Amino acid sequence: MDQHEASAQQPFSGYYKNKVREVDDELARVGPGTPAGEYFRRYWHPILMTERLGAAPYPLRVLGEDLVLFRNGSGEVGLVDRYCSHRGMSLEFGIIEPKGIRCAYHGWCFANDGRTIDTPGEPPSSRMKERVRHGAYKVREHRGLIFAYFGPPALEPPFPFTDMMALADNDMVPWQIHSPCNWLQIAENNMDPFHTPFLHTRMTGVQFENIWGELPVIDYHRRPNGFFYTNARRNGDNIWIRLFDHLLPNFSQNGGLFERGDAIRYFGRTSLTRWVVPIDDTNTWVIAWRNLNQRDDPEGRSKRDEIGWEKVDFYGQTAHRSHDQRITQPGDWDAWVGQGPINSHARENLGSTDQGVALLRRLHRETIRNLQKGIDPPPFVRGDGVRPIATHGGDTVLRVPARPGGDDRALILEVSKKVAQAYLDTAEIDDDGERRSAIERLLAPVNEK
Ligand code: FES
Ligand SMILES: [Fe+2]
Repeated sequence: MDQHEASAQQPFSGYYKNKVREVDDELARVGPGTPAGEYFRRYWHPILMTERLGAAPYPLRVLGEDLVLFRNGSGEVGLVDRYCSHRGMSLEFGIIEPKGIRCAYHGWCFANDGRTIDTPGEPPSSRMKERVRHGAYKVREHRGLIFAYFGPPALEPPFPFTDMMALADNDMVPWQIHSPCNWLQIAENNMDPFHTPFLHTRMTGVQFENIWGELPVIDYHRRPNGFFYTNARRNGDNIWIRLFDHLLPNFSQNGGLFERGDAIRYFGRTSLTRWVVPIDDTNTWVIAWRNLNQRDDPEGRSKRDEIGWEKVDFYGQTAHRSHDQRITQPGDWDAWVGQGPINSHARENLGSTDQGVALLRRLHRETIRNLQKGIDPPPFVRGDGVRPIATHGGDTVLRVPARPGGDDRALILEVSKKVAQAYLDTAEIDDDGERRSAIERLLAPVNEK
């Protein structure tokens, strides 16, 4: 330790501390041409709730790029470079045409795929139309969300298709919330289950349920395109195991919002199917579906009219609370935005509760470096792109009383591993009901009297 470092260990050592909040550029920067930006550009991402796109062109920014989303006169959604290929006027002022969008400045018209279809001021002999191709990206609408693919067309992956998207009797309600911070801060929150007993329970009062106050037993599992983990705790004679999904690069699912672990159940499903979509380095969307179904919310506690643009029906996910409430009861939104526009990893001190965060960063870094070497990132879908990808997000509750004098955390871990194995062993079963029955058959014998 040199003199300077030794001084920084003394009381009142602020003067000696490094004042530079160094940015982990490799993970944080998402603009065109950056390593993480290229990584993101290999996947489909939701970019806007369909209901936000009206008759007028909609300017938006994704992955550091200024774009305009519009619906042409034939009802087809287009996503193009915001600045006109003629002399750069914003196409947010464009005029909708049957097959494209026309710039208001000199009337050039671009098709949804970027072809120039009219240059009205040019002479009839002009070859301009053939020569000029405007930047455009592919889009798809699905269940109230508009998705886009920003990568090389030849490498377009299949559209994301998960088991939750195939679930019968499940109402997927879109929501979208802005955070003025780097994407990774939000993504990491999902891999950090240890914040729950503190931020949501012990620090400033119970935000969800009392039972969240116990330090959970966490077990991370790697899968080909990400992670899932078990998050387990005791509720009386029950062990309640929540499973979380985290798939590359920015997809996550949690357990049920209203589960308390007080009754035996098998394979309850996730309440949130969620993407963290970078707008630019210091702004991010959470774009998601709330999964509403009778089985996972039998008491009907979900509030459908509180789900949508800049809102979702559980505490602390948006800026839209009073300042007083935010400072007396900070929620998830305040946690990730509170880390600053871009958190400085160099200044953190990761501890044993940060294993998930460390695993996530390592996997992103490895995938980004591989891509730089020409190795494609793992696809989001199953190899065949036809069957839905199996996810695990949701809850299982088993009756396994604590053993007198035993190590209860070790018992909880042991049961968690059995649950994880049962989920893995059934992952090839596409039908949700059949998979649940198979999980029940595997796990029912774990229950004790
Ligand atoms: S700037 Fe768009 S047509 Fe001229
Ligand atoms: Fe949280």
